[in-house]
Amino acid sequence: MKIVIEGLGKTYRGGQVALAGIELRVDAGMTGLLGPNGAGKTTLMRILTGVLRPTSGRVLVGEHDLTTSAGRTAVKRLLGYLPQELSLYPDLTARETLDYIALLKGIDDRKARAAQTADLLDQVGLAEHGSRRVGMFSGGMKRRLGIAQALLGDPRLIVVDEPTAGLDPHERMRFRALLAQLGGDRVTILSTHILDDVAQTCPRVCVLGGGALRYHGTTAGLTEAAAGRTYLLRADSQPSGGTVVNAVTDSAGIEYRLVGDPPPGATVITPTLEDGYVALLQAGETTKSTR
Ligand SMILES: Nc1ncnc2c1ncn2[C@@H]1O[C@H](COP(=O)(O)OP(=O)(O)OP(=O)(O)O)[C@@H](O)[C@H]1O
Ligand SMILES: [Mg+2]
Repeated sequence: MKIVIEGLGKTYRGGQVALAGIELRVDAGMTGLLGPNGAGKTTLMRILTGVLRPTSGRVLVGEHDLTTSAGRTAVKRLLGYLPQELSLYPDLTARETLDYIALLKGIDDRKARAAQTADLLDQVGLAEHGSRRVGMFSGGMKRRLGIAQALLGDPRLIVVDEPTAGLDPHERMRFRALLAQLGGDRVTILSTHILDDVAQTCPRVCVLGGGALRYHGTTAGLTEAAAGRTYLLRADSQPSGGTVVNAVTDSAGIEYRLVGDPPPGATVITPTLEDGYVALLQAGETTKSTR
């Protein structure tokens, strides 16, 4: 499976340009989707799921063309989607919720639905809570149920929009482990603001900024963008020159971590993905590809 995106544009009614001429090829495996608020991530994901029509350009998911209605119908059958804001029926139990969504996905056989539902509840650690009403679930439990519903029907394309927002560290680790199991020929696209989630689970990453593709390539390559430009500096007040990534106060003063041209006296350190992301946004480049 792969996704080919050509000249993709989306302008919302009212004139807001969300995507402007995206060219992108996404191969099987996990790909992270990063970008600031309003960059166009959700718009791109909604187009990939067939929920939203593009204004221009073409998207192929496998052999299916999303610009045609037959293509959108076909893609819905191969798709697992966890939207940024998933609404669940509070009065249904977890099991009923999955059963209902499985039915909508066209899994007509009752036994097959029951087996998949039980299996997925187990995988996301909700086996003991299958008979509880979803309205009583914590935020983390709802997210896990959201992921379970996305995995119904063994989808070839999995699109998850900020799945770990609001999860505690333990839940996040569990979630990453779950995603990591979804290898094979699947295309999985994970949008998030938590760079560590991408660093830990996605070998490849795309960065959107202002509706344009700012980077597409390996996650390691994005980290490298800050090589030689990530440094520590002790100072009494915020240093000028670089972008402050973080600052730690101890008894000796404040140690800043910055990305930029290291001044004399700074300690250059190994960058993380976060540093690379900051360096990319600093560079203000347009499309950059390491494919
Ligand atoms: N239904 C809509 N009507 C008009 N404009 C919209 C609509 N949805 C999104 N936009 C605009 O399109 C742009 C991209 O929005 P989008 O939701 O795709 O960003 P995002 O990268 O998902 O942001 P976030 O990180 O906040 O989720 C923004 O400027 C947003 O205001
Ligand atoms: Mg979004």
